[in-house]
Amino acid sequence: MNRKWWKEAVVYQIYPRSFYDSNADGIGDLRGIMEKLDYLKELGVDVLWLCPIYRSPNDDNGYDISDYYGILEEFGSLQDFEELLAKAHSKGIKIIMDLVVNHTSDEHPWFIEARSSRDSKKRDYYIWRDAKEGAEPNNWGSFFSPSVWEWDEKTQQYYLHLFSKKQPDLNWKNPALRREIYDMMKWWLDKGVDGFRMDVINAIAKMDSFPDAPRPENHTMKYVFFPQYYFNQPGIHEFLQEMNREVLSKYDIMTVGETCCVTTDMAKLYTGEDRNELNMVFQFELMGIDNGEKWKWEYRPWKLTEFKEIMSKWQTELESVGWNSLYLNNHDQPRMVSRFGNDRKYRVESAKMLATMLHTLKGTPFIYQGEEIGMTNVAFDSIYDYRDIESLNFYNIAVNHEKMDPRSALEAIHRIGRDNARTPMQWSDEENAGFTAGKPWIKVNPNYKWINVRQAMEDADSILNYYKKLILLRREYDVMVYGKYIPLLEDDEDIYSYIRQLGRSRLLVILNFFDKNPLFLLPEWLEYNEAKLLISNYRTDGKDDISEIRLRPYEARVYELI
Ligand code: NOJ
Repeated sequence: MNRKWWKEAVVYQIYPRSFYDSNADGIGDLRGIMEKLDYLKELGVDVLWLCPIYRSPNDDNGYDISDYYGILEEFGSLQDFEELLAKAHSKGIKIIMDLVVNHTSDEHPWFIEARSSRDSKKRDYYIWRDAKEGAEPNNWGSFFSPSVWEWDEKTQQYYLHLFSKKQPDLNWKNPALRREIYDMMKWWLDKGVDGFRMDVINAIAKMDSFPDAPRPENHTMKYVFFPQYYFNQPGIHEFLQEMNREVLSKYDIMTVGETCCVTTDMAKLYTGEDRNELNMVFQFELMGIDNGEKWKWEYRPWKLTEFKEIMSKWQTELESVGWNSLYLNNHDQPRMVSRFGNDRKYRVESAKMLATMLHTLKGTPFIYQGEEIGMTNVAFDSIYDYRDIESLNFYNIAVNHEKMDPRSALEAIHRIGRDNARTPMQWSDEENAGFTAGKPWIKVNPNYKWINVRQAMEDADSILNYYKKLILLRREYDVMVYGKYIPLLEDDEDIYSYIRQLGRSRLLVILNFFDKNPLFLLPEWLEYNEAKLLISNYRTDGKDDISEIRLRPYEARVYELI
C-alpha cells in the first residue's frame, strides 16, 4: 500500500457562506475563514475543502459559476484568497477547491455567446437538441426543475441542464472546452491550491442518444428522474484519464470526485491506483433517498446489518485497489447526528460514536463544519425561512402539483432539506451565534444558545475535544490509516465492531449504534495479551474485561490489542 499525504489527512469542509462573516453583511467570507484558521489548526485538520467561492449569480449558492477566475464579491477578492492560502500554508494547512465543471451558470460568457446564435463559436460548448414533436427531446427529470431541457427562444433549440435551468451542462465531447477547463485548473494549481473536490464529476460524459427514461409503475409525473442515465456513462474514464495526464499528474495534489450512483466496481475504476484518474470518490450508498419518486423525499430506511454491510463492502472492495472517503454529512445532506445518531438525549454520545467510526475506518475522513460541535438539523416553521433551491423546488412540486399537505412537505424539508447543513456555524451564544454582526443570510439554528464553539472549548468532555483526540490518535497510530479492515459480529443488529490490523499492530473498535444496552461478546478466536483503551465516549477505567462488555447507549470504545 502506497503511503500518501492525502491518505493520512483529515479534511474539513467549509461552506463559506455560513462559516464566519468578517464584515457584517450577513454572509460568511474569506477573511472570516482567515480569522478562524487558528481554531482549525487547533482542531488538527490538515486540509480545508472550500465549497465554491467563484463569481456566481448564486442560483445554487455558487454551484453556478459565471467566472472561474474570479472570486464572488460577497466572499472577498482574489487577493484575499491568496492571503488565505498563504496563511493556511504557513500553518501547515492545505486548501482544496470545489471544481464545478459539469455545468456553468447561464450567465457565464461561454453560455451567453453559445446562445447568441446557432453558428456561435461557443455553441458546441453546451448540449443542444431540437424539439421532438413540439416538446422536450426526452422525458428526463432534473434535480432542481421539472425537465432537464430548457427551450431557448432565440435559437429555437433546447439546452440540457441536469440541475437548474441556470446551470447549463457543458459538452465535454468538445476538445476546445476541455482545453479551457484544463487551463483553468492549472491556473489555480499554479497559485498553490492543493487539489480539487470535483462536483458531480461522473456526469460529465453524456449518453449520445438521450433515450426516454423508463417510467416506474404508478409514476404520476411527466418527467422521470433517472440518474442511472446521467452518471457513469461511456467516455467518462477517457475524460478523467486525459485530465489526469494533462493536469493532475503534474502536481502533488489530492482529488476527490463527487460520484452519485457509483458501485464499488465503478469506484475501483475511478480510484484504482494504477488507473490515473482520481484519488478517491464520495459514494452515496448510505445517503440515498427512497425510490425513484424523488419528490416524495423519504430516506431509504436501513437496519444496522445493512449499514454495516455497505460499509464493509466499501472497506474490503477498495482495500488494496483504491481509497475511500469517509463522511456522513456535507452541505447537501442533513446533519449527521440528527440522521444517524440521536440529536436529543444522546446528542453528545452519539456524535462522538459516529465520529469514532469515521476516524477509525480505512479512508480519508471529511468533517463538515459544525459536525465537530454536534450541530443538528433545524426545523423552521415557515417555508419562507428556507433558501435552498432544491428544498423550495420540492415544496412547490409537492404542494402545488402533487397536492401534498403543506405541513407534511415542511416536515420532509425538516428531515432531508439541505438547509439543515447550511445554517450559520455556531461560534458562541451571542446574537446570531457569533456568526455575524449583521443579519444572517439564513436564520441561525436556535439551539446555538447551548451548542456552540465557545461552550465546546470550555468543556473538557465536549464533542470538539473528542474530535481533537481522534485526530491526534490518527497521527500517532499508523494502523488507523493503513491497517486492514476486518469486520466482527456482522449479524449483530445493535453493535458495529471491527479490527484494524497493520503488521503486529491491532485496534479493536466497538460502537453501539442505539439507545440500548447490548452485550458485546468478543469473538473467541481473537487472541491478545492486553487491551489498552485508546479512546471512549464514556468514562471508564479501561480495565474492563473486554471479552464481555455491557455497552451504554451509543457507547464507543477503541482498544489497542497487544
Ligand atoms: C453537487 C453539489 O454538492 C450541490 O450542492 C450542487 O447543488 C450540485 N452538485 C450541482 O452543482
